[in-house]
Amino acid sequence: MEIEDCAFDSVAGIDCFSDPEKAFDGVNWALMVGAQPRGPGMERSDLIRENGPIFVAQGKALNRAAQNVRVVVVGNPCNTNCLIALHNAHEIPARNFTAMTALDENRAKAAIAQKANVSVGDIHHLMIWGNHSNTMYPDYENALIAKVPVSEKIKDQEWLQKDFIKKVQQRGAQVISARGKSSAASAGSACIDHIKRLSTPGTVFSCAVMSDGSHYDIPKGIIFSVPVRSKPNADYEIEQGIALSAFAKEKIQLSAQELLKEREFIKDLLN
Ligand code: LMR
Repeated sequence: MEIEDCAFDSVAGIDCFSDPEKAFDGVNWALMVGAQPRGPGMERSDLIRENGPIFVAQGKALNRAAQNVRVVVVGNPCNTNCLIALHNAHEIPARNFTAMTALDENRAKAAIAQKANVSVGDIHHLMIWGNHSNTMYPDYENALIAKVPVSEKIKDQEWLQKDFIKKVQQRGAQVISARGKSSAASAGSACIDHIKRLSTPGTVFSCAVMSDGSHYDIPKGIIFSVPVRSKPNADYEIEQGIALSAFAKEKIQLSAQELLKEREFIKDLLN
């Protein structure tokens, strides 16, 4: 009902399925939002054994999708669920799978805009690195407020290094504690942003993608959020040449270690 009521001009009709094989048959975009959501006091990784098997079944069913399908994983823990899905979808190239960190990028932009008392539209290149978890790293050091580095506009380094990072990392939990349920409207809106950013060539945005081990010392074989630049046909490349401080590198490695642990924990689900 709510999808109808949004009156999206991209919605030509709605078909409901209980069989994923039928649901994914020939699809060009698959938005994987169906998973058990996090409740109060939980971390996203607490859902891993419950939601992981969903992504085994759905990954297998995705083999029926169109060869050029773009898969966006939103259900948590989204990075590792994405890894599970792609390992079970042999027919689909790994680079067609992404997990959503647009919500974190939007949250980071909103927090910086509020602190600097500017509009969110003035915040650029605020990229999320790592896991969509409380180890993610929002890189304020390379971000700009209307073409000026954030740290020149916001002089309070302590706030940037501690409060800001924590705020972005914990925002999902804060929403859950305020409303008793995980984010819905902002997550849905971020999913639309993710698709638009991926479909608008030249856009640089935060997106969790398969690491082949050749960029920024990120270990191979995990789904890691990095700045990507979109290319025609909803393709992308990892943005190169971003200068990372020792502080940033340390945070990024922490998140990578967490993802390696998550992968170890579900290795029986990787096909
Ligand atoms: C969010 O970040 O709001 C979602 O991933 C839901 C959650 O569990 O935090």
